[in-house]
Amino acid sequence: MLAMERLGNGQEPPRHPRALSSAPAELTCQRLQRIGEGVGKVVYASEHWVVRRERSSSEIIALIVIWKLARRIAHFIPGGDKLFERPSHRNRLFRVMMQSLILLVPRGLWYTTHIGEVWRIYRFRSERGESLAQTCLHGTALVPEEVIFPPTRVQVGGWPGWLEVSQATQRVEDTLYARLVELAEEGRFEEVEEWLNRFLELRQAGWSRGVFSMDAHLKNFGVCGDRVVLIDTGGLTDSWSEIQTRLGTEQNDVDPHIRLGMGSLLASRPDIAERFNSRWRAVVSSEGVRQHWPE
Ligand SMILES: Nc1ncnc2c1ncn2[C@@H]1O[C@H](COP(=O)(O)OP(=O)(O)O)[C@@H](O)[C@H]1O
Ligand SMILES: [Mg+2]
Repeated sequence: MLAMERLGNGQEPPRHPRALSSAPAELTCQRLQRIGEGVGKVVYASEHWVVRRERSSSEIIALIVIWKLARRIAHFIPGGDKLFERPSHRNRLFRVMMQSLILLVPRGLWYTTHIGEVWRIYRFRSERGESLAQTCLHGTALVPEEVIFPPTRVQVGGWPGWLEVSQATQRVEDTLYARLVELAEEGRFEEVEEWLNRFLELRQAGWSRGVFSMDAHLKNFGVCGDRVVLIDTGGLTDSWSEIQTRLGTEQNDVDPHIRLGMGSLLASRPDIAERFNSRWRAVVSSEGVRQHWPE
């Protein structure tokens, strides 16, 4: 409610997800494919919908340990930090082995370590992001559509073979990252630039609803028709001081297009990189965010 009152005139208000009397048929008539994963979730899809499996605490802790190991390895082997980045059978096996080790260590002990700290921050941000998305974004064009239905068992590829779900999200055509890679490979750089502008516009539309994504990388956004949408609500915050701290560190950082992983993608088009970086610096700044932020 509060979020609705904060909205300026002329904006579509957030809506509750549409409630269906049963799950969309395409979710139950086939085994769903695993199409993506992150630290907190594994995502399975049918043609038009995705469902999510939230990872368990031990799974998330295993991934944090692996991520820390990879960063250590990177000190000795160049590119070591990229070793575990892509989902693969080898990486999954390694994660499951690590998870078994983690289960041997009492939970209380993990909580006192730096790993426990990272895990707590991750959990906090993920829950806060989801609840902010519900009050400020759901049902708007800024996020994919959500539907809810009575708890339903669906078959999924790989372990655990099935899931019980009671909500589904509209499947995006591509992540923004995948779309940009594809367009760049085909030499369609005008469209690359157009999508990058839409990305910046989407971010500003989020700010005018009082939310800012602290985790604004290109795999957390998706493409629906001619829109960019936010697919990972995990990094959303409404805390102005947190946003300012983030903007402060970003200012002195490397070029925005490099930080977003577009170094090689835009290597042949420094002019586009240059234009994007200067637009980003002007828009993603304290002043830029404040211009949109609700009273
Ligand atoms: N609505 C969606 N449509 C298509 N793919 C999706 C959708 N939501 C997530 N994905 C895929 O799953 C990946 C992980 O989802 P994400 O929500 O970012 O999880 P995490 O919070 O664990 O990072 C995304 O990068 C994307 O590839
Ligand atoms: Mg993500």
